[in-house]
Order: sequence, then C-alpha cells, then structure tokens
Amino acid sequence: MSNLLEIKDLHVVYKTREEHVFALNGIHLELQKGETLGIVGETGAGKTTIALAVMQLLARTAVITSGSIQYDSQELIGASQRELQKVRGRKIAMIFQDPMTSLNPTMTVGAQVEEMVRAHDLENLSDLEIDKKVRKIFKAVEIHHRRRKEFPHNFSGGMKQRVVIAMALACSPELIIADEPTTALDVTVQSQVLRLMNDLKVKLNTSMIMITHDLGIVAKSCDRVAIMYAGEIVETGKLEEVFDKSLAHHPYTTGLFKAIPDLYSKCDRLVPIQGVASDPTDLPDGCNFSLRCNQCMDICREVDPIVNSYGNLKIKCHYLEQEYKGGNCDEQSTNRNKKT
Ligand SMILES: Nc1ncnc2c1ncn2[C@@H]1O[C@H](COP(=O)(O)OP(=O)(O)OP(=O)(O)O)[C@@H](O)[C@H]1O
Ligand SMILES: [Mg+2]
Repeated sequence: MSNLLEIKDLHVVYKTREEHVFALNGIHLELQKGETLGIVGETGAGKTTIALAVMQLLARTAVITSGSIQYDSQELIGASQRELQKVRGRKIAMIFQDPMTSLNPTMTVGAQVEEMVRAHDLENLSDLEIDKKVRKIFKAVEIHHRRRKEFPHNFSGGMKQRVVIAMALACSPELIIADEPTTALDVTVQSQVLRLMNDLKVKLNTSMIMITHDLGIVAKSCDRVAIMYAGEIVETGKLEEVFDKSLAHHPYTTGLFKAIPDLYSKCDRLVPIQGVASDPTDLPDGCNFSLRCNQCMDICREVDPIVNSYGNLKIKCHYLEQEYKGGNCDEQSTNRNKKT
C-alpha cells in the first residue's frame, strides 16, 4: 500500500540569536491511509515540531535544513501558500492541546464551525444545506445543536475540545494530526473525547497522527507507534509489538514502559528515566540517548547509530545491533554521523 504521508530525513533547527535548537535530527516516518500513528516522547522531544512541519506552520525561527515531507506524493516543503491552503484543513487538519488556540473567543461556536464548512465547501452548498451539515457535525461530536449560539467561554474544557474536533471535521480532512488533544482535560472527559475521536476516525476512515506523552492513550487509539527522543525516532513498530515486553526494544522504550504492566492495564504519564533529557542546543556526538542509557558502550558516545530491523520493529541502537547482530541494515538511515 502506498503511504499517505512520508517524511524523510527531516532536520529542523530553531535559530535564535542566542542559540541553535536542534529540534529534529533526521526524522523518518510513514503513515498509511486509515492508520493511526502514535508519536510518543518526553517534553522537548520534537513532537509538535513534526506536526507543525507537516502543516508548514513552523515558527519563523525554524529552519528546515534538510529532508522531505510528502503528502499523497506532493512535496510540502517549499510548496506555495496556494498549494498549502489546499492541503491545510481540506486534506490535513490539526487539533492542538489547548482548544483556545483554535477557537475565536468573540464568535459563537456555531458560527465558527459554519465558517469552516463554508471555507471548505467545494460543492457550493445552499444556506440550508450548510446549516444541515453544521447540525450533523455538532451531532457527531455530541453537542446539542441548541448550543451553537453560545460562545467558547460558556463551554467546559471537554466541550471546547469537541468544538475544535467539530471544526476539524468540518473540513472533512483525510488526515487529522492531534497534538496532545486531551492533555488539558480531566481523566473522564479525556476518555470521552478519545472515544469520540476513535469513533469518528473509524466512521469517516480518517488517518490520524496522535501525539501524546501518555502510553495509555497510545494503547487505546493507535495502530503503530513511533518513540521519539531528542529529535529522533528511536523505535517504530506495530502497537502490540512496541508494547510487547518479551521483544527487544530500544533502552529508552524499555525505560518508558518499566512502570506499565501490560498493554491493557491502565497507565499514567511517562515515568521519568534516569538522568536529564539531552540538551537540544548541544547534542552529544554519538547516540543522543547515550548520556542516559544504562546500556551505553564506547561506540555509543562516538558514532550515531543506524536504524536496524528486528522482526517488524525498527530500532536505532548500537547495543541492540551488537547484542542481536541482528537486523539488516535499513537503507533509510545509512547516514552515520550525519547530524546537522
Ligand atoms: N519557537 C521555538 N523557538 C526555539 N525553540 C523552540 C521553539 N519551539 C520549540 N522549540 C524547542 O524545540 C524542541 C522541540 O520542541 P517541541 O515543542 O517540538 O517538543 P514537544 O515534543 O512537542 O514537547 P512537549 O511535549 O513539551 O509539547 C524543544 O527543545 C523546544 O524548546
Ligand atoms: Mg508539544
């Protein structure tokens, strides 16, 4: 099956007068149609930067120093604003952590969803048809249409996030990128919103990238998982395999999962791993995780590891490479020592 989204060797640096933050250091990611990919990693790992790079909404200080982002075979890096307008919303919609990032406090929620429907209306719908569509969207996100006339501040956090999801749906996107969509919500509301997103995804056959700190959310909603550390994907694989403790994993993944009994148990936010997270302004020469790794060898401090396949898992680690002499070299990442 061909990939809906394909990110290759993506490097992003935030350049300010004071410092250079190496936020993404050679990201490779693939997403197939209908699939939900979870991106997991600690704060500062670069998760949001990936999302913003795909949307081509990076801060002005961000420089894409190399790489490619193809959506449905169309290159997004360097695409014109006109081309990007067609992709944003209509093909890819993003849901941010804080609903107020996406909502206008001075407009009623109904007017905002309606505006979105009109902006993405390719069929020249009549006012009546637009109204019908807005009603349908509110029904889908389980908000009574009578509440359309209210302003965002009248809504609770969970309801606001539902409105944001409604706005994303109004564009009928093929791909939704949800960046910590439920982090700001309390646990019960979190699971309601998550259930709603999963239901809608299945119903509409939308593909999804779910960015989260929370392995519980990944377990509930993803088909495949990418584990991120310091601007790199250190491990990717199918959900069941990344969560399978009997398989060999990246030492960072192993650390993340230590506190979690199994895939089906309830799990809290990530447990801290020994040491401090790598400083993205001053990354080590070898493996970015070497400073915190309990399996660290000399080579790890000197040479950037390549990605190898271990069964269906793809892992970037010298220790595993030596231990299992395993994997066949993955052509994706033959750029040893290549760090910009
Ligand atoms: N506009 C910016 N200017 C400078 N540095 C930035 C900017 N945005 C992000 N960064 C830095 O880039 C790195 C990656 O940030 P990013 O927000 O992508 O991480 P994240 O994984 O989404 O973290 P979180 O879980 O906290 O949301 C961090 O070190 C962050 O401080
Ligand atoms: Mg983030």
